[in-house]
Amino acid sequence: MFIQSNFRFIFLFHTFLWSVAAVAENRTIDDRNGDSHTSEKPRYSPDNVWDGKGCTECTISLDESRAHDGDWSAATYRPSEMSSLNISFPFEGTSLYVYFILANDQGVGITEYTAVNFTLDGRHDGNFTHLPQTGKGLQYNASVYSVTGLPQARHDFLIDTSGPTIAWLNFDYAIYT
Ligand SMILES: *[C@@H]1O[C@H](CO)[C@@H](O)[C@H](O)[C@H]1NC(C)=O
Ligand SMILES: *[C@@H]1O[C@H](CO)[C@@H](O)[C@H](O)[C@H]1NC(C)=O
Ligand SMILES: *[C@@H]1O[C@H](CO)[C@@H](O)[C@H](O)[C@H]1NC(C)=O
Ligand SMILES: *[C@@H]1O[C@H](CO)[C@@H](O)[C@H](O)[C@H]1NC(C)=O
Ligand SMILES: *[C@@H]1O[C@H](CO)[C@@H](O)[C@H](O)[C@H]1NC(C)=O
Repeated sequence: MFIQSNFRFIFLFHTFLWSVAAVAENRTIDDRNGDSHTSEKPRYSPDNVWDGKGCTECTISLDESRAHDGDWSAATYRPSEMSSLNISFPFEGTSLYVYFILANDQGVGITEYTAVNFTLDGRHDGNFTHLPQTGKGLQYNASVYSVTGLPQARHDFLIDTSGPTIAWLNFDYAIYT
């Protein structure tokens, strides 16, 4: 009797710990290193226009030490060259937070405008627009999207820029719960 109830206690205690851990865990999706849990990497389209640290022809120079995992994925959307510039990744969880790097004060003629639409599980779920402002410099770790309270399941997320306006897109990382 005693042994049996002890086992039951241990079982319940482990179930309790497991459920607390499951509720509390945040995981990262880095632009290059991908999902900290599954190693799955985001997909970038078109695939030949993206740059990160060490880019020599990029007009905007960034500070590696201020980017998550020391790197980022940036590209310029040019409506004459592509129909869409986009990033997609799956995540399995109930919340998602997405972080970009934004540009200001980079000089005349440099594209600093950022504009994207977000699509969650195939449905449009908001947009983000950044108009450059004098005196702000580069803004690292900029929160551009968040959603909470999703069903615990695998979700698909898409970030995309299309339409008539040239824009710069710099994805640094995402967090999901
Ligand atoms: C996960 O990260 C987000 C964004 O930083 C934060 O708001 C949230 O409280 C974190 N959740 C947990 C369980 O750590
Ligand atoms: C980004 O902001 C979070 C808090 O929101 C902080 O924990 C983290 O260290 C910041 N990362 C960088 C690279 O500044
Ligand atoms: C992503 O961009 C590529 C290249 O421009 C395009 O062919 C594709 O249709 C876009 N995907 C989505 C889901 O918008
Ligand atoms: C972008 O979001 C704002 C609200 O945040 C909304 O008023 C606007 O219509 C949206 N634009 C597009 C193109 O979806
Ligand atoms: C966002 O989506 C709306 C509606 O499809 C479109 O008119 C707009 O050009 C898109 N904006 C960007 C930045 O892709």
